[in-house]
Amino acid sequence: MCSIIGYKGRLNVASVLVDSLKRMEYRGYDSVGIATINNGKILIKKDIGKVADVNKSLDLGRMPGHTGIGHTRWATHGDVTYKNAHPHYGCTDRIAIVHNGIIENYKELREELIFLGHTFVSDTDSEVIAHLLERHYSGQKNIKKTVIEACRRLKGTYAFVAAFEDGTICGSRYDEPLIIGSVNNGYFISSDVLGFLEYTDKAIFLDNRDIVIVDSETCHIFDLDGNIVDRAITKVAWELAAIDKGKYAHHTLKEIHEQPNIVQKAGTQNLEKIEEFCNIVMNSKTLFLVGSGTSYHSALIAKHILSKFAKIRAEAIISSEFQFAFDDIDNTSVIIAISQSGETADVLQSVKAAKTMGARILSIVNNPTSSLARISDSSLSIDCGPEIGVAATKSFTAQLSLIYTIVDRLCNGCLDFEANKAFLVGALRQVLDTEIQIHSIAEGLRDARDIYIIGRSIHYAIALEGALKIKELAYVHTEGIAAGELKHGPLALIDRNSYVLLVNPTDMASEDNIASAYEIKARGAKIIGISDRPNNVYDIFIKIPSVKSTFYPIIEVLPFQILAYYLALAKDADPDYPRNLAKSVTVK
Ligand code: AGP
Repeated sequence: MCSIIGYKGRLNVASVLVDSLKRMEYRGYDSVGIATINNGKILIKKDIGKVADVNKSLDLGRMPGHTGIGHTRWATHGDVTYKNAHPHYGCTDRIAIVHNGIIENYKELREELIFLGHTFVSDTDSEVIAHLLERHYSGQKNIKKTVIEACRRLKGTYAFVAAFEDGTICGSRYDEPLIIGSVNNGYFISSDVLGFLEYTDKAIFLDNRDIVIVDSETCHIFDLDGNIVDRAITKVAWELAAIDKGKYAHHTLKEIHEQPNIVQKAGTQNLEKIEEFCNIVMNSKTLFLVGSGTSYHSALIAKHILSKFAKIRAEAIISSEFQFAFDDIDNTSVIIAISQSGETADVLQSVKAAKTMGARILSIVNNPTSSLARISDSSLSIDCGPEIGVAATKSFTAQLSLIYTIVDRLCNGCLDFEANKAFLVGALRQVLDTEIQIHSIAEGLRDARDIYIIGRSIHYAIALEGALKIKELAYVHTEGIAAGELKHGPLALIDRNSYVLLVNPTDMASEDNIASAYEIKARGAKIIGISDRPNNVYDIFIKIPSVKSTFYPIIEVLPFQILAYYLALAKDADPDYPRNLAKSVTVK
């Protein structure tokens, strides 16, 4: 949720840290801070806001040195205030830390340290790490022992990087990512490879409870008993250029426009890996699909087409609910976990629980080196490049494309996805051409208080996804409703102030949808139809091209993404960085 970075090398550290934080800002953007070490002194500068907003007040020119740490925050403990922004000192300025995660026993540690004379200034759980390190460092000044002792006391999830007055940086992790980037004459310690990809593609993924110490341009990794551990260097291959906004005003808009190319590329993944993945699916007795948010909506669509075309029954479950749902998982069960980041705590937790019950784990991720990919028996990458906008857009289409490819393999090519691809790419481009129309519809919805999105069958998942996009980007109450459920309650909400969007491409559900639309219209609501065919019941019509009915989800989600984006702009919200959210939710 927060991003952390440490660097020790030959470069001017302050600007290196700020550049790295900019690249990882999707993880949290409440506040920013850096600490640099120069001539035995640690200097902290921090402020509330995004990196671009606080850049000036950090006054990088006055932060010399070649070693330092940095942080962008997504608040968990304590308000968004200056004092709660990271880095945190202990009682003195000899040690500073940045942390991502939640220290569950922080209250107990805090009381103990206060009793021993420490003074705390923030409301965060993180500050205890600085004081704990300080406690063990004072006197012995042995950094290795200090970090080991401190880590032994921490409960919860954490990744932290600490800077010591002598110019050493060190870090450790438990259930939060921490990755070392190896550069000429130096090292990074980062939450994400994006923190250092501009400088190196050589990464070392730390295991839980590993401790890394970087002193005098050398990096040592230890376990909690102080033994040296050997962690392999992995070459990470991500196209950095994709992080730029290009000609677009926001990452979100750029990512929406990337979707035709993503579908074009889909299915070119390693065929052997797809084969391995499908074999595991075919050998399962019980199959579960887990995911959160948008990835859960992909799971719903996967469930639908697995059953319809591959005749494989699967349960789709929101990952945070998974632990409460099933006791009958065993070594005949297979879990397919879907996650763009591969770092979502709820997903990781459900997968780990299933693993201990004997289940095999498959995953669909965007980051092939993520924690989820690494604990899976087989993992496939959606390969859509870094998604920076907090709202999932291109990763959803990429997940669906990969799911179509997998199901096609499972049903011996009955979907004919490959043959339909070129047509789908053209259809996506046609939907993008409706951007101006959707922009003006968004302007008209600026004062809407409630929006309802109605869909049936496979389109219900798109109604949920469309509602999620509008909620998170434009902060408007929006509900996705199964059309058949309207008469069982939601119809009571509909009046002349309501806006209802109907996902209604021509298929076996469309006639019933039109009937529902008339019922809604009779209550005075305005209806926006998203379909390949116009109908008199629609007050506004957004035309999408006709495609083979199974593939509609990939096409019909676009109008919602575009609408949510322009509604965010109409309401003066930043579509790339919605309030209160973060891209990668690594806390429970
Ligand atoms: C989608 O727009 C959201 N930002 C969010 O719901 C996201 O899909 C969810 O947090 C899951 O993330 P993941 O795919 O990285 O696991």
